[in-house]
Amino acid sequence: MSIKINSLLIHGGTDGDEITGAVNVPIYQTTTYKQDGIGKNRGWEYSRTGNPTRDAAEKLVADLEKGRYGLGFASGLAAINTVLSLFEAGDRLVVSDNIYGGTFRILDNVFNKFNITYTIVDTSDPKKVEEAIDENVKAVYVESPANPLLTVTDIKAVADVAHKHDLLLIVDNTFLTPYLQRPLTLGADIVIHSGTKYLGGHSDVISGFVVVNDEELSKKLYYLQNAIGGVLAPWDSFLVIRGIKTLGVRMDRHVQNAQKIARWLSESDYVNKVYYPGLESDPGYEVQKKQADGAGAMISFVLDERYDYRKFFENLKMITLAESLGGVESLVCHPATMTHAAIPADIRKEVGIVDELIRFSVGIEDVDDLIDDLKQAIESSLKEAN
Ligand SMILES: Cc1ncc(COP(=O)(O)O)c(C=O)c1O
Repeated sequence: MSIKINSLLIHGGTDGDEITGAVNVPIYQTTTYKQDGIGKNRGWEYSRTGNPTRDAAEKLVADLEKGRYGLGFASGLAAINTVLSLFEAGDRLVVSDNIYGGTFRILDNVFNKFNITYTIVDTSDPKKVEEAIDENVKAVYVESPANPLLTVTDIKAVADVAHKHDLLLIVDNTFLTPYLQRPLTLGADIVIHSGTKYLGGHSDVISGFVVVNDEELSKKLYYLQNAIGGVLAPWDSFLVIRGIKTLGVRMDRHVQNAQKIARWLSESDYVNKVYYPGLESDPGYEVQKKQADGAGAMISFVLDERYDYRKFFENLKMITLAESLGGVESLVCHPATMTHAAIPADIRKEVGIVDELIRFSVGIEDVDDLIDDLKQAIESSLKEAN
């Protein structure tokens, strides 16, 4: 029976426990499994290689992404590390010009040492992607919407370019989740998640996922997952599964709040710019509408110079200054010194990650309380008043 996403969130993957009837998949807190004789195991050998609770989380995320194979990792970066380990010395990746700072960091300071390099491109223009391709390029890596400027990439258009040149298209789908966007159905080959964010949803578990459709690719990734070993723990797998059950209701409220706040900000004179692909004025609006079921709940804005952005962060009462995003509580961060500090200053400036840029992960609190908090924090940070 083919079921819709809201049912899949509850019943996808492994639905409960066959043996006891428990409605939740048990936490198999074990490292190893009894073997009935040499070479005779019951499907499980060692929990780095496979664990039933992790397996349930992996199958669930794969189902949601409309993929055949899911892999669970100890963090989003462990997932990214494993995907990047598919490449060899001399290979190059074409990468979106604004993506999570940690992805730049691992490319710059880890994979660069092994001569796996990258070229930064504005992937919102598929022509620029094509221009950057030469015989060394083996993959295109995008986030859409990207972190922190919410730049939208036309996934189908870039998939067409990538496949024309026999390249893999890798999409980090953390910001939207499969509830709003399913990149494999748009032509992507590999989907990556920081499950730490909306999938977990409660700021209480670090996790990562990779989903693919191609069997060969899945075998390579399973090999690397086991060989590198950054796997998702049983307890953490349970927490992600629990989080995903409410993903739909959370995302609906997240997006509803974000739409209202983005509009309020853009109509105010507190800010110089609002980045949110759910606003008709946003350059990514049309593509976003075409390829996703909503614009997500990440907003970035540039505070007007009349306000002291440092004071703004200190004056917030309910919204919390913190790294991360995607939890039920609203969080703000300062990309230039926090999430994107790993990006060299000149590139930061060039792409628009200015000092006044504020990234807002809109939570599911009462939206009017959130607006009131923003308003009082901005107004009380007016420079002349200090
Ligand atoms: C878009 C995106 N991808 C990947 C990551 C890395 O995930 P993790 O922190 O779970 O390692 C992050 C973290 O903020 C992110 O925002």
